Amino acid sequence: MSIEIVRAEGYDDLSRRAADLVAGCIGSNPTARVLIATGRTPIGAYRVLADGVTEGTLDASGITAYQLDEYLGLGPDDRRSLGGWAVETFVRPLRIADERFVRLPLAGDGALDEYDRRIRGDGGYDLSILGIGENGHLGFNEPPSDASTASRVVELTPGTIDANASYWGDAADVPRRAATVGLRPLLESARILLLASGARKREILERALFRPVTPDVPASCLQHARGEVVVIADRDAFPTGSNGAST
Ligand code: F6R
Repeated sequence: MSIEIVRAEGYDDLSRRAADLVAGCIGSNPTARVLIATGRTPIGAYRVLADGVTEGTLDASGITAYQLDEYLGLGPDDRRSLGGWAVETFVRPLRIADERFVRLPLAGDGALDEYDRRIRGDGGYDLSILGIGENGHLGFNEPPSDASTASRVVELTPGTIDANASYWGDAADVPRRAATVGLRPLLESARILLLASGARKREILERALFRPVTPDVPASCLQHARGEVVVIADRDAFPTGSNGAST
């Protein structure tokens, strides 16, 4: 399957283009199963989508949103909950009913295996909206992770703990363990939208898209995705190995 790489001018352009693609998917499948990343990168796209809902040009109320990852060990109202983040930035602004937001089970690998089986039985994700870590992670599939990994409990790497410290104040505030949707169910998505913004993402994007597939760069397994992959990178993140065409 080919990967389409789109060069956006800056973050606003990236957000608009990403929102257009997501709105197009929802338009053609109003009951789509949409897996949503948190993190900073997709926030702008989620805002543009929310504006569409407010203005009446988009109806997202029929989709089901799925959580990509969650820290372990948090209380129900913890400010660091990634589920809470997803609700604030995507579920509520897009007027999706709470019962149409599916949270990852946090009871361990057995529950996550069962969760994968259920999603696969339902036909898999129609669209997965992802960001990329500076270490090449997708979700919390930390290196090394290969294309066969199921949804599971993981230990976060020191690099991810440092990167996530900027969300919560300090590395000491970042939980050490998390649950994540695995690379296998991600790669079975009908469509994957990967967003990357800023110079800090350029080198890893280059390695993920233009170098051999390796578990040391989990995002490189996108080269083996089953469905369509669209990468939208802004000027600063745009990989030098790309001329803007497809790989
Ligand atoms: C978040 C997630 C992570 C982020 C990645 C990039 O749910 O799964 O993989 O997408 O760490 O984070 P930002 O967008 O903050 O640079």
